[in-house]
Amino acid sequence: MSKKVLLSGVQPSGKPHIGNYFGAMKQFVDLQDSYDSYIFIADYHALHSLKNKKEMKENIINVLLDYLAIGLDPKKVTLFKQSDISEHTELAWVFDTITTMPYLMRAHAFKDAEAKNKEIDVGTFNYPMLMAADILLYSPDIVPVGQDQKQHVEIARDTAEKFNRIFGDTFKLPEPMIIKNMEIVPGLDGRKMSKSYNNIIPLFAEYDEVKKCVMAIVTDSSGGVPKNVYAIHKLFRSEDELKKIYKEKEGKYKELKEILVEDIEKFVAPLREKRKEFSKDIPKALEILKAGSAKAKVIASKKMEEVRENIGVSL
Ligand code: AMP
Ligand code: TRP
Repeated sequence: MSKKVLLSGVQPSGKPHIGNYFGAMKQFVDLQDSYDSYIFIADYHALHSLKNKKEMKENIINVLLDYLAIGLDPKKVTLFKQSDISEHTELAWVFDTITTMPYLMRAHAFKDAEAKNKEIDVGTFNYPMLMAADILLYSPDIVPVGQDQKQHVEIARDTAEKFNRIFGDTFKLPEPMIIKNMEIVPGLDGRKMSKSYNNIIPLFAEYDEVKKCVMAIVTDSSGGVPKNVYAIHKLFRSEDELKKIYKEKEGKYKELKEILVEDIEKFVAPLREKRKEFSKDIPKALEILKAGSAKAKVIASKKMEEVRENIGVSL
């Protein structure tokens, strides 16, 4: 029996931290053996917020290196770039014509932007249509996303249903797969780890940087378990082991932090090394992306031909 199809997109948006890794990136590696996986770099989505040629190029290459370094295997995963496949934007237009403004005005991302009184560009408003096209071109069974993207996958599903109703059966209805048992990874201050809070541990940090971050974890002075240290530590060691260590070293925050530094280093060092290896040969990494895009193009163009046929524009 052929494997089920998984598809997801990642925005090229700067250096990942360990919250991104445990919250999102790692799942693609865990799932690559069980699914025929398609993971793409959503560069046209990123254009909403990133309007700088140099930064765009750097970010695309960086996200590619990040995903290769964490262990996405190009033999199992088709890694591609959204802007290489013009069918994404083409299909988004077709979806624009069957979707109403009031429907898109209910999307969280739009409502958030509106609440912040931002001058919203048309692309941001239409974002869910491009995302629907991203998904539906590849007929995936599942679309793993974080909680914040669930509504977008539901919009893709609605859009597929609507299109099928108007033009006949064309698209498979996708299911969102919400990354479960996923706790929010806390940052150095106990709040959600996030670049905007300045409380992160970068995933590919060098030893000294990890150490500096860990030493800056906020501890309370009650003398018990330093909960912010423990919360990060449990990503790297079993709770059984940790309970023993934290009992033995009760109140000795500095020593506990030193153990955490070593545990993070043990985990991160191989990923960091792998990333360095890949970054020595960028053309080779880009070849992987190019081959992925060529494979994705075949699938997307076939689906798009079916769309053109069903709407009546191919003669
Ligand atoms: P962002 O960096 O906010 O664009 O998020 C990219 C992905 O990482 C999304 O799927 C988020 O849900 C996930 N993510 C970001 N921060 C955390 C965190 N502190 N804990 C768990 N997951 C996170
Ligand atoms: N919107 C997603 C995010 O911001 C990225 C994305 C774009 C995506 N297209 C997709 C995710 C299609 C899953 C499927 O994280």
